[in-house]
Amino acid sequence: MLTLLAPAKINWFLEVMGKRPDGYHELVTVMQSISLYDTLEFEELSGNTIEFHCNVDLGPVEKNLVVRAARAMQQAHAPARGARIRLIKHIPHGAGLGGGSSDAATTLVGLNRIWNLELPDEKLMALAATIGSDCAFFVVGGTALCTGRGEIVQPRTAVAGVHLVILYPEIVLPTPDVYRKLSENLHFVRRECNFFHYDGDSKDTAELAKGVFNRLEEAALAVSARLSDVWQQTQNEPGVTIRFVSGSGSSLVFVVPDEKSARQLTKSLESRSLGRAFVVRSVAGRETKGGDGGR
Ligand code: C5P
Repeated sequence: MLTLLAPAKINWFLEVMGKRPDGYHELVTVMQSISLYDTLEFEELSGNTIEFHCNVDLGPVEKNLVVRAARAMQQAHAPARGARIRLIKHIPHGAGLGGGSSDAATTLVGLNRIWNLELPDEKLMALAATIGSDCAFFVVGGTALCTGRGEIVQPRTAVAGVHLVILYPEIVLPTPDVYRKLSENLHFVRRECNFFHYDGDSKDTAELAKGVFNRLEEAALAVSARLSDVWQQTQNEPGVTIRFVSGSGSSLVFVVPDEKSARQLTKSLESRSLGRAFVVRSVAGRETKGGDGGR
């Protein structure tokens, strides 16, 4: 059996350049893997059955991104192969953390290994992009500049080891709703992505702060009154150097100086019933050939 971790992501930077004829939005975003993981287990099956099990109810199986990724992989590269896939969920859903996309990308990586297909990352990323806009990023993970609708991925030196608290306010925020809200007014001055002026020193959070920006933040807060309320209530958390919404929300990201501060903040947020909080760090990408899957 092969076990792989599927990390969540945050966006250090996200600017929306405009709306495209296909209805998607043209993005410039810096994606970052974090140490909050789902786990996927893979076993080869004889015949071409795809069996899927999960520790929580994710709704209709055929809509599940893991199953869709497995079918896409089978159709494109291995029509006669089968697999049993078990997903153990930890990443909250509708949270702007890319959980489903990461599971799907990790499925492609896992099947590539157990079926000995030896497909290069580029092929897996092309297939991933057909499943979701931010899915291709998760094939490699780490820190990457992503453009197009998010599927054009340029890996960068990993900004690893930054201490973070992720607050999931128990709100499911549908991504299309947030983009629709933003689309009501696309006449804003575009921010340049100067994130990569930051040299990745995890202690230099003042420099990091200059690069952090999320165009979807205001729209996410406007879509959910409850999120806006949580945002108000977390304005002055001790020790927090940067606070932002991850992607289209609903999760909030707090940058803190060390693990102790992260634990204190987590306790404080949960004691005030603001949601579920996770102590994490930014992490480097998945190791490619023969690696341990990002453990
Ligand atoms: O590609 P994916 O299915 O993950 O996107 C979910 C939704 O998010 C899309 O249907 C679209 O409404 C919105 N989206 C967008 N522009 C992007 C990515 C996502 O408008 N670049």
